[in-house]
Amino acid sequence: MNPWKEALLRIDANLDIEVWPRVENKDRVTFAVCWNHPKKVLDGYPNLKAVTSLGAGVDHLLKDVAIPKSVKLARVMIPSLKTQMGEYVLNAIQNYRFYTARYVDQKREAYWSKHNPVPKEDCTVGIMGLGEIGSAVAEWLLVNGYEVNGWSRSKKNIGGVQCFDDSGLDEFLSRTNILVCLLPLTKETSGILELDVFKKLKPPAFLINVARGTHLVEEDLIYALDTKVLQGACLDVFEEEPLPANHLFWNRPNIMITPHTASITDPEEAAELIVENYKRSLSGIELLNEVDRELGY
Ligand code: GLV
Repeated sequence: MNPWKEALLRIDANLDIEVWPRVENKDRVTFAVCWNHPKKVLDGYPNLKAVTSLGAGVDHLLKDVAIPKSVKLARVMIPSLKTQMGEYVLNAIQNYRFYTARYVDQKREAYWSKHNPVPKEDCTVGIMGLGEIGSAVAEWLLVNGYEVNGWSRSKKNIGGVQCFDDSGLDEFLSRTNILVCLLPLTKETSGILELDVFKKLKPPAFLINVARGTHLVEEDLIYALDTKVLQGACLDVFEEEPLPANHLFWNRPNIMITPHTASITDPEEAAELIVENYKRSLSGIELLNEVDRELGY
């Protein structure tokens, strides 16, 4: 059985669940659970009341014109999404600091050459996006002895983190070596990771993008690496996924690539929240983690 269907039925065995594309009767569907569904798949569901994303991101739902504006949207936010992301980002930082990728290459060639680790003082982290995941990552990095700055649309208050709002972007960047993007994808944040931003970082600078591929202007990253504005990058998300085999990024030794695995939703953990939201949607009450369509997250 589909692992999601199984997990949901474990919470409530009476649920009536159909797994796309085998949906017998569109009229009976009131609640949909989606992740990167193909375009037009949600066309023609007259009784749809709510749709939940299977992940934290909801950009795939917001850009789907087949979902009427009256349909409520929600996302999944569970503890393991935060811990996984914290561990991923810490690991990316440590790989950069300790030259992990370079040593993997050296081993292949039986080549012995030492590099001094990048000192922690040159690894002040700046997190763009201080939502639930961004704040949790900031706290995890603090616990691990990193200095952390945070930037968000409206100013946040997180103990030990130097927080900036929209107007403080330049100062945030000038105090940051390692820029971590954890922003929601909106009109305002699309393409935010561009050359001007990279140039304002405190050298030596490094980029980690774990949000969405379209936050990054890809050619600006290549230019920034070639001109040593950035020392390297760790990317988990891409404009086109899977990243095409002929993409420039594959051949860059200073770009670490992971296939959108930084934080993966566990069906068992998310099922209770999804079932609760299904019930809330039937009663017409506010969903947990409901999305504000205006804000875009
Ligand atoms: C993953 O990319 C998510 O949005 O949860």
